Formats: sequence, C-alpha cells, structure tokens
Amino acid sequence: MNNIIELEEIDSTNNYIRNNIKELPDYVIVTAKKQNGGKGRRGHIWIDDKGMLPFSILITEPAYPETVPLCAGLAVSKTIEEKCGEKAWIKWPNDIVMRGKKICGILCESVCADEKTEIICGIGINLAQSFEFFKSAGLPYAASIEILTGKAPKRTELMESVREKLAEFSKKSFGELYDEYKSRCVTIGKSIRIIRNGEEKTAFAKDIAYGGVLICEDENGEFEVNSGEVSVRGLMDYT
Ligand code: BTN
Repeated sequence: MNNIIELEEIDSTNNYIRNNIKELPDYVIVTAKKQNGGKGRRGHIWIDDKGMLPFSILITEPAYPETVPLCAGLAVSKTIEEKCGEKAWIKWPNDIVMRGKKICGILCESVCADEKTEIICGIGINLAQSFEFFKSAGLPYAASIEILTGKAPKRTELMESVREKLAEFSKKSFGELYDEYKSRCVTIGKSIRIIRNGEEKTAFAKDIAYGGVLICEDENGEFEVNSGEVSVRGLMDYT
C-alpha cells in the first residue's frame, strides 16, 4: 500500500480519481502541488495555497459506504493527534478542529457502477498557511497546524498514516468505532445551528446514533440529522 500519485497541478484530486477510477488501485493516494478547482462540501469551493495539503484516497470496497465520511474524520483526527501531540477534535460529521479552529475539511464522494459503490475520500489539511492567508480569504474560523502549534508534520507521513487508519476503519461498522468517534466529537451536548439549503434552525445536539446520524432536539421534539447536505455550527463559536 505504498502507492502515492503526486501531480504538479490539477483541478481537484477527487476529480482526478473519478476520471481515472478504472485504472487506479484500492487505497491509492492522489495529491497535487497545486489544486486550482478544489471542491468543498455543499458546493463550496476549497481555496488552494501552497501550505494546504490536498489529497484523495480511493476506497473501492467499503463495508459501509454511508459511514466512510465519519471513518475519515476519525482517521484524520487520530493521525493529527499522533503527529502533533495535541487533541484534534471532530466537529460532526468530519471537520477537524484544533483550539476551536478548522484545520481540515473532508469531502467524500461516491461513484456507483456495476452494483458497487466506491468512495473517493478527499481531504484538505490546513498544514502551513499563514495567518494572512486565512485573513485575506475571509476564513476567520480556520487556521493551519503550523500557526497553532509552531510546526507542521511531514506531508507524506500524514497521508500514509491517514490511509492506514482509513483502510482499517472502512472495513468496520460505525458501531465498532462509535466510542472512539464520540470521545473526540465536539458537537454533542451543544446548542447548534443547522443550515440546510440556506435555511437555518437552532437545536440541541443530544447524541450520535450507532448509524452515525446526529440526534437533535428542539421545541418540537427529537429529530435526526444526516450529514449529506447539512452544515452544523455552534451558537457561540465555530464548533
Ligand atoms: C469541506 O470542508 O468543505 C471539505 C473540503 C475538502 C477539500 C479536499 S482538498 C482534496 C480534495 N479535493 C477536492 O476538490 N476537495 C477535497
């Protein structure tokens, strides 16, 4: 499992895998020095900078495709924690947060063919961008690992470690990873804003179900939130 494809420039490493999916092996990593059309969740763009580490991993046979986004969050959280020696929290479903700032975003896309679902797991780690980058990009809730800790872990080591963990987690049910995920999740027990299709509502995040959905409560009672097209933000801060 030592396959890493390093591109000079590409629109999106997720797109590269999608366009070449038939030729690429399971758990291949695709990264690029420059990503000029990076995609974020919910149709947002993901801005490039040389301090950002973009990479995508192909999972051809995930046991439970719908919970891979949560597995990816757990894999990145554990990796960053191991490499930096500092807690990297998960904002449900899979933003990675350190000291209240977003240090990584994850976009998982599925490709369905021949009755099988493959997952492209795209990861953008804020490794070494400057304070000025986030300021001029209008991203007050984000920071790089280097800004927060004073140093940035090595790119290849990060990618290899995430892949190793994702390979393990994507064979498991979310129930098997539940305790570990939950112990790292900053969202539970907080008042949150749920943003869907531009509409916003406030609720209390009570728990996570064994299937990975967020269990919330508002004045009308309990309801579940799926990760798909939803953004969850804290009322007081980003988390
Ligand atoms: C988000 O938080 O909105 C998700 C951001 C995901 C960005 C990564 S960078 C590598 C991969 N390629 C993309 O086009 N997007 C993901």
